[in-house]
Amino acid sequence: MKIAILISGGGSNMVALIRAMQSGAIAATPALVLSNRPDAGGLARARDMGVATETLDHRGFESRAEFETALHARIEESGADLICLAGFMRILTAAFIARWEGRILNIHPSLLPAFTGLNTHQRALDAGCTIHGCTVHLVTAALDDGPILGQAAVPVLTDDDATTLAGRVLAQEHRLYPAALARHIGGDQRPISLGLGQG
Ligand code: GRF
Repeated sequence: MKIAILISGGGSNMVALIRAMQSGAIAATPALVLSNRPDAGGLARARDMGVATETLDHRGFESRAEFETALHARIEESGADLICLAGFMRILTAAFIARWEGRILNIHPSLLPAFTGLNTHQRALDAGCTIHGCTVHLVTAALDDGPILGQAAVPVLTDDDATTLAGRVLAQEHRLYPAALARHIGGDQRPISLGLGQG
């Protein structure tokens, strides 16, 4: 099993996934790290870990369809069987997702189906949530939707702001994503639940 990891930023989830593959905790190898942003910090981190990287700057393409055609070709060339989105900030079209049906995973920083989209931590605070967290799910054509593979919950503390809450969630993302990927690859369809005394 070979995995392509798509990023747009610092890549801390990508690092967690690569570490888990390289340590044998996930029965897969990282085939490629691909960023749509040339300045993504995760690119250097991936290279330092010995993983091939590519940049595909979406701004250099005439249309989303052309960008996705190139994206699809690069991922196929890498030999990847599965795509992990890890802070990849481009919306993928239904056409791209159909070509990889059931083979794209995403991590989202909320307990889905609550708070799809952006600014999840501030929105959870504004809503008065006392529990927040993150979700790993299979990607379908609907944004931040699709079968849930696992969730991790964190408490919201009274003095939290969006930054402190995001940090607590991100630490759980780094536990959840490798665990959910390992279970998915192993063919175990039971969703993982971390936090709330179960993890
Ligand atoms: C994570 O919170 C992820 O859930 C989100 O973007 C952030 C990416 O962080 N969608 P990193 O690039 O993995 O450090």
